[in-house]
Amino acid sequence: MYARLIGTGSYLPGTPVTNDDLAARGIDTNDEWIITRTGIRSRYLASPGTTSSELGLIAAQRALDMAGIGATDLDLIIVATSTPDFIFPSTACLIQAKLGNKGAAAFDVQAVCAGFTYALGIAEKFIRSGSHKRALVIGAEVFSRILDWKDRGTCVLFGDGAGAVVLEASDKPGIMSTAMHADGSQNSILNVPGQICGGQVTGDPFLRMDGQAVFKFAVRVLADIAEEVCQIAGIQTGDVDWLIPHQANIRIIEATGKKLGVDRSKVIVTVDRHGNTSAASVPLALDEAVRDGRIQRGQKVLVEGVGGGFTWGAALLEF
Ligand code: UT7
Repeated sequence: MYARLIGTGSYLPGTPVTNDDLAARGIDTNDEWIITRTGIRSRYLASPGTTSSELGLIAAQRALDMAGIGATDLDLIIVATSTPDFIFPSTACLIQAKLGNKGAAAFDVQAVCAGFTYALGIAEKFIRSGSHKRALVIGAEVFSRILDWKDRGTCVLFGDGAGAVVLEASDKPGIMSTAMHADGSQNSILNVPGQICGGQVTGDPFLRMDGQAVFKFAVRVLADIAEEVCQIAGIQTGDVDWLIPHQANIRIIEATGKKLGVDRSKVIVTVDRHGNTSAASVPLALDEAVRDGRIQRGQKVLVEGVGGGFTWGAALLEF
């Protein structure tokens, strides 16, 4: 029994915000610095009040349309997000209600930029166990809400968006292998160290990052976990048809591809147009490449993420 991908969908809010637009808004930065260091040219920023569940809902509806099934056919809904609408209920329950599904298991996974790969691995295990038949897995974020717009080292890097996939139990190949790991001792290099307590925000409610430490960690673990899922499936990393790494920085993406011996032409890149959308980055890139026809049925696709925690995850699937 496999968990087979039968639909993908995504959604980006509003219109692209360029690097020059950010500079024009008073951020002490410039297009050349951002492109050279990160490869990012533009990102999408949700309008005030727009929530992760609103973005995730549209991505989910598009994935369900492609799958040709209705929301009531789902028995599992998992949302990967670090920017949920509320402390509770979960964003998954909010999307479930908006979709009109009752009865499916619904919960959020919080593994920051590795969140979608964690959620995918969890859904795959539910389906392979035989307990669930049809899963909706969403990555949805409004990271613009947790950015300190006075911190030019972080605010230019992120964007908002959502991506989703529908998985179905099938005897035809789907997800071949998954892996997920964490190293909590690295929690301080990327975090939002604030909380709500007694009606007040205590600590720091903005994203903080040691960029260089994150960079080094990301390249190492993205290469390691890609090797791991390929080894479980019994293939070489060079045999994958498409590599979809977390879209954080073009230099991390290129270094990872190089380490793995995957040709640049087989690496899906959206970071230039989306920025880093955290848990949404991988399903957004996957949906783009499925819809524009690059990813074809029968091809091997390796998706992988890395983020705060530190967390990292991957899945190798036959599309
Ligand atoms: O999901 C994981 C998310 N995180 C990441 O993927 C981040 C990984 N890390 C990185 O991508 C890079 O470390 C950054 C792009 C964040 C930063 O690049 P860097 O080469 O490590 O630059 P830096 O932080 O060492 O800063 C170099 C200079 C500094 O100026 P001085 O002190 O040398 O005069 C910064 O103040 O660049 C300056 N700087 C900027 N200049 C213009 C930092 N941010 C900006 C900016 N525009 N936005």
